[in-house]
Amino acid sequence: MYQIVQKEQFSEKVVKLVVHAPRIARSRKPGHFIILRIDEQGERIPLTIAQADKGAGTISLVVQKVGISSTRLCEMNPGDQILDLVGPLGKATHIHKVGTVLACGGGVGIAPLLPIVEGFKKAGNRVVTVLAARSKDLIILEKEIRQWSDEVIIMTDDGSYGNKGLVTTGAEQVIQREQVDECIAIGPAVMMKFTALLTQKYNIPTQASLNAIMVDGTGMCGACRASVGGETKFTCIDGPEFNAHQIDFDELILRLGGYKNEEKEAWERVIG
Ligand code: FES
Repeated sequence: MYQIVQKEQFSEKVVKLVVHAPRIARSRKPGHFIILRIDEQGERIPLTIAQADKGAGTISLVVQKVGISSTRLCEMNPGDQILDLVGPLGKATHIHKVGTVLACGGGVGIAPLLPIVEGFKKAGNRVVTVLAARSKDLIILEKEIRQWSDEVIIMTDDGSYGNKGLVTTGAEQVIQREQVDECIAIGPAVMMKFTALLTQKYNIPTQASLNAIMVDGTGMCGACRASVGGETKFTCIDGPEFNAHQIDFDELILRLGGYKNEEKEAWERVIG
């Protein structure tokens, strides 16, 4: 069992949970994720590790209420126990000294972006980060991201904070004013798709971290498959990060919506 030791409510639908998992805290690297199950009936939820504290033996997970299992997880409190928590899974981000890194995070994708921004900064890069969300209350972990970024640009769809517009508007401003050597994009699939199209135009190598549906997380079930460069890849063992210019985002978006009806039915059955 894995105990929740701290909870922070970022917004109505987004929470940060700090969970006691000392072995994962010791070995996790930027880009790694875990899969958890609240109880015997719970779905397996893949979540990227936003932060880890080796001393305290804890990891931080940012969760958004999307379906039944994520809603139940968001409603758990310090002292509650999570049944299973497996990780670290996936390949760590390739962090290296490249020059200037443009880091783009959308919504809860800002959480997995945090350790990557920290990693690139510690590797000696200039890091410019663009954070984007629908509105001010959905911009999360801004203080932590600022700690490891040379500059942070905030974009909101409704203009309630920072500049009004999409992540690509902020990213293009950066690309047009200075040399960008590498880009990393994490967020909703559609946001990563358009960030990839933008950076392809400027020939900037770009990684995107895919939020595929997962079951086992060990390369056996095929639930997380994605087409990358015309080949089938498993997000859980080959990723979660891939060359964004080679990802078939339209297929990913279709696959992410594949269980919409079942999710709706389950929601009505359980929540009412
Ligand atoms: Fe089953 Fe990746 S989650 S193969």
